[in-house]
Amino acid sequence: MDRRNWFRIASAASGALVLNPFWKWDMTHPLDNGSPDLVRLCYNENPYGPSEKARQAIINSFDIAHQYPFAYVEELAAKLASKHGVSREHIVVTGGSREGLAATGLTFAEEGGNIVAPSPTYQAMLRYARQFGMHIYDVPVNRELGHDLDGMHKRITNRTNLVFICNPNNPTGTIIPTPEIRSFSKSISGRTIAFVDEAYNDYVTEEGFEDMTQLVKEDLNVIVSRTFSKVYGLAGIRIGYLIARPDIADRIRTNLMASTNIPAIMAASAALDDAQFYEFSKSKNSEGKEMIYSALDLLGLEYKKSHTNFVFFKSGMDIVKLNEKMRSKGVLVGRPFPPFTDWCRISTGKTEDVEQFCSTIKNVLA
Ligand SMILES: Cc1ncc(COP(=O)(O)O)c(C=O)c1O
Repeated sequence: MDRRNWFRIASAASGALVLNPFWKWDMTHPLDNGSPDLVRLCYNENPYGPSEKARQAIINSFDIAHQYPFAYVEELAAKLASKHGVSREHIVVTGGSREGLAATGLTFAEEGGNIVAPSPTYQAMLRYARQFGMHIYDVPVNRELGHDLDGMHKRITNRTNLVFICNPNNPTGTIIPTPEIRSFSKSISGRTIAFVDEAYNDYVTEEGFEDMTQLVKEDLNVIVSRTFSKVYGLAGIRIGYLIARPDIADRIRTNLMASTNIPAIMAASAALDDAQFYEFSKSKNSEGKEMIYSALDLLGLEYKKSHTNFVFFKSGMDIVKLNEKMRSKGVLVGRPFPPFTDWCRISTGKTEDVEQFCSTIKNVLA
């Protein structure tokens, strides 16, 4: 890209930020000053993590932390490859899955190209690709707050470099039934690439639900992203990965910037072996969601049954105002997701945090 083009794109991107009334929320949570007294139900974190085993692995990793991590990245990639039944060449280990999203956005960005995505959804790849000249076709979610796959299909052009799918979706918590996402991804694979963000995959309990790794194994144009930030509770450690056909994985790998580090690799590796903590995380999450559903039912509020570690509900109050009111009582809730500006995303958190949310929302909406 030449200087003039770069300047034009960068100006347009900063202009878009100013026009977006929620741009501050896109970067961070403006009401979060890091105070430990705040109940943080705004980031879909898992406050039960890291597990004891992951913590011990991090401590032990300091003995080798003077080394560059290359060989250890290989070891973790091999372990992940065996978990998913793919080759090591299919795995790209990243500094949080967000790095995988950004690097993919960068790899496939092209002046005049576009990405088709549901709206609302997780923005990390889309925001990044936009900075590098891509147009984003936002396809509104359907009445059930799920992906409108037909609508997305219609938006695909011969300049569509990627189709972004978030399954389960953030912030709606909905899933795409496996047969539908399979046939959608297969049908578009000849024309473009399906990127399936599976950050919340581990939380799905729906019978017959499958991840999309199988499509990668079938050599389709499909990229899957996964993270250690959610069920494994390692969001602050920064580690995730992509699963893609080796030729696609190679292209993305060359665009990584931060990559990862030895303590993160060791924590991730220990977390993969810690089935007890994995099950514990999932059961605390289900418990938290049931508590939230009960509180919302008592208040007569509309919500979607969620397949993630958060619940999206209609508070009926402007989300910026709701955020301020909840924050004044010590609870941080999720950011605005236009056009659902009177809906709120609430993460599950620890039992006592969810209890505090339930009593606070009752007071605030009274
Ligand atoms: C759908 C989705 N994908 C990716 C991420 C990024 O996760 P991380 O970079 O911590 O792996 C998040 C974070 O909340 C998310 O909601």
